[in-house]
Amino acid sequence: MANSMGCLVLLCLVSPLLFANAVRSHPWGGLFPQFYDHSCPKAKEIVQSIVAQAVAKETRMAASLVRLHFHDCFVKGCDASVLLDNSSSIVSEKGSNPNRNSLRGFEVVDQIKAALEAACPGTVSCADILAIAARDSTVLVGGPYWDVPLGRRDSLGASIQGSNNDIPAPNNTLPTIITKFKLQGLNVVDVVALSGGHTIGMSRCTSFRQRLYNQTGNGMADSTLDVSYAAQLRQGCPRSGGDNNLFPLDFVTPAKFDNFYYKNILAGKGLLSSDEVLLTKSAETAALVKAYAADVNLFFQHFAQSMVNMGNISPLTGSQGEIRKNCRRLNNDH
Ligand code: HEM
Repeated sequence: MANSMGCLVLLCLVSPLLFANAVRSHPWGGLFPQFYDHSCPKAKEIVQSIVAQAVAKETRMAASLVRLHFHDCFVKGCDASVLLDNSSSIVSEKGSNPNRNSLRGFEVVDQIKAALEAACPGTVSCADILAIAARDSTVLVGGPYWDVPLGRRDSLGASIQGSNNDIPAPNNTLPTIITKFKLQGLNVVDVVALSGGHTIGMSRCTSFRQRLYNQTGNGMADSTLDVSYAAQLRQGCPRSGGDNNLFPLDFVTPAKFDNFYYKNILAGKGLLSSDEVLLTKSAETAALVKAYAADVNLFFQHFAQSMVNMGNISPLTGSQGEIRKNCRRLNNDH
């Protein structure tokens, strides 16, 4: 008895050290792909099958789910803060400038969460759902696969100020965009590779109108925009009105994850100002745009690595945060 007690005491003293070491020895800051292998072995296939259904119904949903993970990670880290609805204690990030009338995919996340709660209650975080759904979406439309480090927990709050300030805007200058990535621990390669997310999905007219009519305040279109492409865009994006008219971010292959986004930029046909400046405002980013346009495999390799880097932004782990039962609400918010 004394002996077994002794062992127990020893275990108590040593196991936290072992655990801490195990955590430290993982290259992803405490997250690892096998996190749910014992607690919810079907987690990944449940997410995959619901994402596949949603994308089969509407291809654009792949783009919307990739963007949802980005807008989560850039505000307080990848903690599902973006999914919280307004409540007595929450001012939802859904109302921020980058998200309002724009961010989508919340119903698909609800569906995934409901299926996971039925299979393994209280186990899989909403933040991890967003990370897996972004990877599965990418693969479903022809992009690269990567193993998603897991074990994130969900936030107990949201930050609409963070959402307004920390997510880059389409009319930000290149130095501002690079600074906003640096604040998240991401570098210039991450900026250019992750911008390649714009190989799929849509933008509203309001996000690029300035380029068509008055880029620098002199009543002229953006001189870096191809003249005939600009004329075509003006037909659906008038000087006033039509704010929500939709345009593909990659007009050549809007539903396929490939490197046409970069080829378009080289032709002066990047849709957003933030896309075209990657070519026109810095030799370092321009070299990456050219490299990705020339070599789709290099783009895929860098995109996959940069998605892992982005997914590692300040995760909550261990006893931090909670595992939400409903991604839209804190567990004790009624
Ligand atoms: C570099 C800075 C970035 C800026 C300024 C930016 C800006 C934008 C804007 C303005 C839109 C259109 C929104 C609308 O009009 O409703 C958009 C859409 C999109 N963004 Fe970005 N973005 C950036 C980086 C990223 C990153 C890092 C990713 C993911 C890796 C991403 C993925 C997407 C996707 C997939 C869409 C289309 C969403 C849909 O169709 O629902 N973006 N982005």
